[in-house]
Amino acid sequence: MHYDALAGDHGLPFDPINALVSPRPIGWISTLSADGVPNLAPYSYFNLVAAKPGVVMFGSSSLKDSQRNVEQTGEFVCNLATWDLREAVNRSSVPAGPEVDEFALTGLKTAPSRWVRPPRVAMAPAALECRYIETVALPTGAPGQLHKASLILGLVVGVYINDANLVEGRVDVTRMRPLARLGYMDYSVTDDVFIMERAV
Ligand SMILES: Cc1cc2nc3c(=O)[nH]c(=O)nc-3n(C[C@H](O)[C@H](O)[C@H](O)COP(=O)(O)O)c2cc1C
Repeated sequence: MHYDALAGDHGLPFDPINALVSPRPIGWISTLSADGVPNLAPYSYFNLVAAKPGVVMFGSSSLKDSQRNVEQTGEFVCNLATWDLREAVNRSSVPAGPEVDEFALTGLKTAPSRWVRPPRVAMAPAALECRYIETVALPTGAPGQLHKASLILGLVVGVYINDANLVEGRVDVTRMRPLARLGYMDYSVTDDVFIMERAV
């Protein structure tokens, strides 16, 4: 098949696009509201887009609590979503009002961040502490019509790694077993790694 993506005429029972850009890492975003209420939610439109200094992005399909909190407070943390934490990751995605603290909802313990105010997920093996850069409005392809979704960018100002995941000075992802999102309701987990030296 080969279809017009703006028209969306794939004719399939479900939109295949998320399955075609997969696996996607999951940024498990913790924030504080302007009133100080903790918030936690997974975002798979998420990635590291630059290093030295690190820049991350997440895409919010509409204006949700995480985006609002980031824009109002200027800070967020991207916790690493892992196989061991998968049920809590899923549970923290329930639609809940801004007054709901998803740490309390999921029973997850917080740990203080060092460079930003939102806490991290204590059990997550790694976390990126981020300072908000900007929100990018997205086009739809229709003249003058913006997407409901936005892209939120952040500068990584602090990195937490649980030292148990360091082997000979390198992060061993097979110990962390990061979770990734595929299409539909599908997920994958990284527990197998191979090395390929850079071509010269
Ligand atoms: C694994 C997973 C990945 C998700 N990725 C996204 C995403 O990239 N963008 C988005 O808007 N919603 C995503 N969602 C849905 C949000 O987590 C959900 O709408 C959540 O309630 C938003 O919380 P908030 O309002 O506290 O930010 C995802 C859900 C799951 C389970």
